[in-house]
Amino acid sequence: MQKKERIMSGMRPTGKLHLGHYMGVLKNWLLLQDHYDCFFAIADWHALTTKFDQTENLRQDILDVALDWLACGINPEKSTIYVQSLVPETAELHLLLSMITPQNWVERDTTLKDMVKMLRAEPINKQIIIDEDETTITETYSKLLSYGLMGYPVLQTADIIQFNASLVPVGKDQLAHLEISRDIVRRFNHLYKTSLIKEPQPKLTETPLLKGIDGQKMGKSFNNDIKISDSEEVTTKKIMRAITDRTRIQKTDKGHPELCEVVCPYYEIFADEETVKKQRHNCENALWGCADCKRELASIINSQFKDIREKRLELEKNPAYIQEIIQTGSQKAKTEAALFLKEIKKAMRLY
Ligand code: TRP
Ligand code: SF4
Repeated sequence: MQKKERIMSGMRPTGKLHLGHYMGVLKNWLLLQDHYDCFFAIADWHALTTKFDQTENLRQDILDVALDWLACGINPEKSTIYVQSLVPETAELHLLLSMITPQNWVERDTTLKDMVKMLRAEPINKQIIIDEDETTITETYSKLLSYGLMGYPVLQTADIIQFNASLVPVGKDQLAHLEISRDIVRRFNHLYKTSLIKEPQPKLTETPLLKGIDGQKMGKSFNNDIKISDSEEVTTKKIMRAITDRTRIQKTDKGHPELCEVVCPYYEIFADEETVKKQRHNCENALWGCADCKRELASIINSQFKDIREKRLELEKNPAYIQEIIQTGSQKAKTEAALFLKEIKKAMRLY
């Protein structure tokens, strides 16, 4: 029997996942795990590249990612779920790859550039300094950009190639990193006259861009997201807060679905065609108010996530089981990574 093709992907643990993660990433992983040999990393080292100074919740964040994945149906019998830092072989491979990666390749990485730009723009530390004349000076420091952050794409390359994965399901934003991965692989194979490592190809996810309830990009830090793990009550409350067609002031005003930037697209994503038709009709003819429209949307979303949420609550009661999944998966990933690292070192003529 032919061995299944390998897939590798990961997420940084930054807290509980939201509906955007589910629709954009997890749904896709669920389909893939039936046809490929999948490795999914909870990339805690990658989280440290920018959040080295905020590790208070790191353990919990890792657990939350594992819980969300499992609740959504990532199946540890089919896929290997592991924690990046529990596979230290990745760090050794990262070091080796860093030797052959030209500095200007990482400097050109547009995804990394965007991360740096965002970090620079983020005021993180307002300090009040009283100088000799008792004047108050407020200074805003931008975050320290570490040496480790510069290695982000190289570390990600190590994640991928340690399993010799051929496909990497990611969103568009990760393409620049992945291009570097392929360049590094090509360079490795060329330098050491081998064809050992496969060039990992991106498997683009058609991400239905799910906006936050305020119409901006959905994100934890913007406080506009709906979590997979939110209760029905919280979900409903959040949806009731969503922005709508601003020209519709009273219930008797006719609405304009095309101006309703959050509720309407959510209907398109979560509701069936019939329901969408009814919803638009009711809006355009002022047959219902925005509150009715949102309440129905909330109930559609709540029913879709009911099983996942129940499963998550069950899993939360059993932390020992989650630990076991993480440890078993990481052990398996470690074994695979160690095997391949040996080959890589041999090709480089190391011991
Ligand atoms: N950088 C990815 C992100 O921010 C997460 C990640 C870490 C990853 N390692 C990976 C993705 C390996 C694909 C393959 O989402
Ligand atoms: Fe938006 Fe629904 Fe209100 Fe129409 S009725 S403006 S679709 S929330």
